[in-house]
Amino acid sequence: MLSESFEVRLHNSETAPSADEIATAANGCAGLLTLIRDPIDAPLMDRLPGLRAIANYGVGYDNIDVAAASARGIMVTNTPDVLTDATADLTFALLLALARRVGEGERLVRAGKFEGWTPKLLVGADLVGSTLGLVGYGRIAAAVGRRAQGFGMRLLHTSRHEHPEAEALGSRRVGLGELLAESDFVSIHVPLTGETRHLIDGAALGKMKPTSYLINTARGPIVDEAALAEALTQRRIAGAGLDVYEREPEVHAALMRLGNVVLLPHIGSATVQTRAAMSSLAAANLVAARSGEPPPNLVNPEVLRG
Ligand code: DGY
Repeated sequence: MLSESFEVRLHNSETAPSADEIATAANGCAGLLTLIRDPIDAPLMDRLPGLRAIANYGVGYDNIDVAAASARGIMVTNTPDVLTDATADLTFALLLALARRVGEGERLVRAGKFEGWTPKLLVGADLVGSTLGLVGYGRIAAAVGRRAQGFGMRLLHTSRHEHPEAEALGSRRVGLGELLAESDFVSIHVPLTGETRHLIDGAALGKMKPTSYLINTARGPIVDEAALAEALTQRRIAGAGLDVYEREPEVHAALMRLGNVVLLPHIGSATVQTRAAMSSLAAANLVAARSGEPPPNLVNPEVLRG
């Protein structure tokens, strides 16, 4: 799609390019297709004076300084919707893995330590009748809520606004404190902003029940990872399922040692169909930006007004 409209320069490597590499390779480019691991800040934008659009391959765009882009008349786009179900599925995979101790069971079998059925072997938690607290109520949270309903879970959510769909699922809108205190599973679904950085800190973790689990498929820095490691080590919460990390790809050393944690390598949207849809959408955003139409997923519409 892109080569029909553009001369394309490809960073053909699994390794993230440095800011210098981006500045050199994208010199003179009108558009950038970025991954969520590529920090695009004001100094880098200033090294790319011809830049008119940045299409991020992901729904989250906290890697881009959007205010700086808007100030320079640069459009920023993301890839919402197409990854909602895949990410909700992975959230549920973590939830089920925690509740039913799937990781521990797998490690036990592979270690040759399965010595036959016993009544107390790896007993876990029931989903039916348990409470799932959704921190934030965007598209992915709603999709997780729909799945939870099928498992007979009760739902709570935090949100700035009322959501008729949440009400239809029987989800009660509560404050974060109440959600943390009442939920058996707490799942994070807010974007990373100045306001949500370390939203789940030591004090927040302290409000959770010792039998409850934390799941994060949103962004690592929303959770204070050191405080989480401490809470898990001291069994102040029962476990955590993480797909994202505070200093990705680094994982807190204490988390690596804990058995009550399920660790995944940021694969929430990693299905063949979803990644194909994200690619097409990111490309469509750049093509639209070039043709002068508003890109379908513009996150800073103020650039079109200025
Ligand atoms: C996103 O889209 O923001 C995910 O983290 C990667 O798909």
